[in-house]
Amino acid sequence: MATSTAFLFFSFTSLFSLFSVLVFISRMKPWCNCNTCRGYLTKSWTNTFTNFCDWFTHLLKNSPTGTIHVHVVGNIITSNPKNVEYILKTRFDNYPKGKPFSTLLSDLLGRGIFNVDGDSWKFQRKLASLELGSVAIRSYAFDTVIDEIKTRLIPVLASKARDNTERRDVLDLQDILRRFSFDVTCKFSFGTDPACLLPSLPSSNFAEAFDLASKISAERGMAALPIIWKMKRFFKIGSEKKLSEAINVINDLAYDIIKQRRKMGFASKKDLLSRFMGSVSDDDKYLRDIVISFLLAGRDTVSASLAGFFTILSKNPKVEELIREEVNRVNPVQEYPTFDELRQMHYLNAAIHESIRLFPPVQNDSKFAEEDDVLPDGTVVKKGDRVSYHPYAMGRMENIWGLDCLEFKPERWLKDGAFMPEDPFKYPVFQAGSRICLGKEMALMNMKSVVAALVPRFDIRMVRPDYEPRFTPGLTACFRGGLPVKVYARK
Ligand code: HEM
Ligand SMILES: *[C@@H]1O[C@H](CO)[C@@H](O)[C@H](O)[C@H]1NC(C)=O
Repeated sequence: MATSTAFLFFSFTSLFSLFSVLVFISRMKPWCNCNTCRGYLTKSWTNTFTNFCDWFTHLLKNSPTGTIHVHVVGNIITSNPKNVEYILKTRFDNYPKGKPFSTLLSDLLGRGIFNVDGDSWKFQRKLASLELGSVAIRSYAFDTVIDEIKTRLIPVLASKARDNTERRDVLDLQDILRRFSFDVTCKFSFGTDPACLLPSLPSSNFAEAFDLASKISAERGMAALPIIWKMKRFFKIGSEKKLSEAINVINDLAYDIIKQRRKMGFASKKDLLSRFMGSVSDDDKYLRDIVISFLLAGRDTVSASLAGFFTILSKNPKVEELIREEVNRVNPVQEYPTFDELRQMHYLNAAIHESIRLFPPVQNDSKFAEEDDVLPDGTVVKKGDRVSYHPYAMGRMENIWGLDCLEFKPERWLKDGAFMPEDPFKYPVFQAGSRICLGKEMALMNMKSVVAALVPRFDIRMVRPDYEPRFTPGLTACFRGGLPVKVYARK
């Protein structure tokens, strides 16, 4: 009996895999021999370009429409602002995140806002916009950030910046910023403090589990055939075994916090979880999913933006000087700037927008077409095609930013000294349209607080002045080998 069930099961899975492979092959055209597809399959681009995104930028620049098609994987990629507006706003309904994307992240994110479409997305979006817009939660977020800067970030940097010795410690700034961001995002999302950014740079089970889970989930998307990771998941082997272990660590912690919060009372708490507990009263899994999405959305994006910022700044001493001047003018006592003072720092705001233009943490982002369609530039889209926009390439387009597009010029964001926002479809680093990043204002406030606190106090210098970023593949842009710097205390 048992053997025949096993046999039946085995035949069924084999047939099913064979069928999936056939469907995959018929949909994806693995035989395409165009230049783009050949480069993609043979990886010949690695001879000329360091980063995958730089190769795509090159292809997009040379396409008359600003759009390319990688036929072998059914992916249309665009850098054309008209297409971006069409996908993200005009025909938003035809370009959801879609199943292929959400299955990759479904074990980690569940039904969280980041990973769903339709009604479940609408419900969370409404609730979250309301919460994130409230004064109470904004000032809670701001206080959390300032506290982490004051009690952790500055002491850690100061301890490495011994200006009386010749030998200064080399510091991985990317690691420091990721710890900073993890602490801040956990405090904001759950109201708990993982304390990753201590002078001893301790390891954290939770942070490690979260890193591993994001990494393996992202790697699922790079597997040639989805059936491979699905089989591994079914039999609980290899990377899929590690993923499920990491997710268990995350879940234990999340459910523990939810239970405790329910016991101790959440009404007076200002973290996101407590706020959501008021509206979602009886579904712990859903609550867990909601906050994990925020953790994923807020953590690496902010640290990657800051890592990019300090990389560019170290090569632009004039900009550094102008930021110092502005910070000292608006906040002459060298305290921590208030929310209001940060709002008056237009040059700082411009410099930050300019650095994310060149180093967007989300280099590209994909949707899946529900129905056949034609994009404004004439590109034909077939039902099921993956359609991506590419903020990294868009930041490097002469036809969007002018001949000086590769230069770091905060001035391009200023008019008579006042900050002027750009068309979000030309600058979709926070996405744009109906599903624009919910944490945009908070992320910018967070970054401004860090820069305004560090730049007057320290000179942060690359160990190798000619440092050129090399990215590791993943959900957010991360520097391979970290960001080695030396920190010098000023005065
Ligand atoms: C510089 C920092 C950040 C950048 C560049 C950024 C960028 C983005 C992008 C490109 C998306 C769209 C992703 C997609 O739909 O596939 C997004 C969505 C989102 N972001 Fe951010 N983000 C940043 C920081 C944050 C922070 C700090 C938070 C939370 C406090 C946050 C919360 C969210 C949420 C909840 C969504 C999903 C919105 C929805 O699906 O309706 N983000 N972000
Ligand atoms: C898309 O972005 C991710 C990280 O943001 C990166 O790892 C990947 O190489 C990018 N792909 C392309 C085609 O630029």
